[in-house]
Amino acid sequence: MDLELRDKVAVVTGASRGIGLAVTRALVEEGVRVIAGSRTSTRELEELPGVRVVRVDLSAETGPADLVTAALEHGSLDILVNNVGAVTPRLGGFLEVTDDQWTRSLTLNLMAAVRATRAALPAMIEAGRGAIVTVSSVNAFLPDPLVIDYGVAKAALTNFSKALSKEVGAHGIRVNTVSPGPVTTDLWLGDQGMAATVGAAKDADPAEVAEGVATQSETGRFTHPQEVADLVVFLASDRAGNVTGADHVIDGGLTKTV
Ligand SMILES: NC(=O)c1ccc[n+]([C@@H]2O[C@H](COP(=O)([O-])OP(=O)(O)OC[C@H]3O[C@@H](n4cnc5c(N)ncnc54)[C@H](OP(=O)(O)O)[C@@H]3O)[C@@H](O)[C@H]2O)c1
Repeated sequence: MDLELRDKVAVVTGASRGIGLAVTRALVEEGVRVIAGSRTSTRELEELPGVRVVRVDLSAETGPADLVTAALEHGSLDILVNNVGAVTPRLGGFLEVTDDQWTRSLTLNLMAAVRATRAALPAMIEAGRGAIVTVSSVNAFLPDPLVIDYGVAKAALTNFSKALSKEVGAHGIRVNTVSPGPVTTDLWLGDQGMAATVGAAKDADPAEVAEGVATQSETGRFTHPQEVADLVVFLASDRAGNVTGADHVIDGGLTKTV
């Protein structure tokens, strides 16, 4: 299937590793010029052709707008992928989560997308077209005290995207979310990831922690970043031209309800 994305311009937030890197690679393979934002870069990202890497702290107030401004120097902006996010397990329970920790979670997981979207929309409205795809999480609707602030931020992110889709649909702009379950990235499997942190607290092997989570899915495994990327890129394309205001779950059947 030709996604007809050749020569489009996209911004991807949190692009150096994990899902953001996979999305960037998938867009590049479709002929998209990508402006990729993260604090650091990686060899994998630098090696991709047609990618401009912008080193930016997306939790800083002006970071998301700075990234979008860099993209607009190329003329137009067709696609915004709000991917950046991070989670810290709250092993001590709700009472130990400080205001500062809540603020940091809400800033990176919600406000980075709000700010990037605010910066991108005027150009999209002027062009009369655009696609915004935001990476939320199953934790938006599967509340878990272990990730209480992250889940709240993701719930707000999904709600934000749905509301915005109603406002900008008439301008030819589509707004969708993708909600993955556990994905094989550093967020879950890295040295500081969920499996390692929870494993250290429970005196358990991180691989066993991850395996326990994987078996909660009907497929018995984590999702791969490439699989999330394929869904994001489809939603960014005109092939999904009448899909907006929708949340797309990719979790191997982890979610048990309809
Ligand atoms: N992995 C999962 O199981 C899973 C499940 C559901 C949803 N998600 C969501 O998917 C998205 C991507 O997650 P992932 O698993 O790919 O995470 P990851 O592997 O930890 O990668 C996170 C990316 O974000 C960048 N980043 C982090 N903080 C940043 C900041 N302050 N400013 C700029 N860039 C920053 C990182 O680069 P630098 O460190 O170089 O800045 C990296 O490129 C997140 O929104 C996450 O919540 C993930």
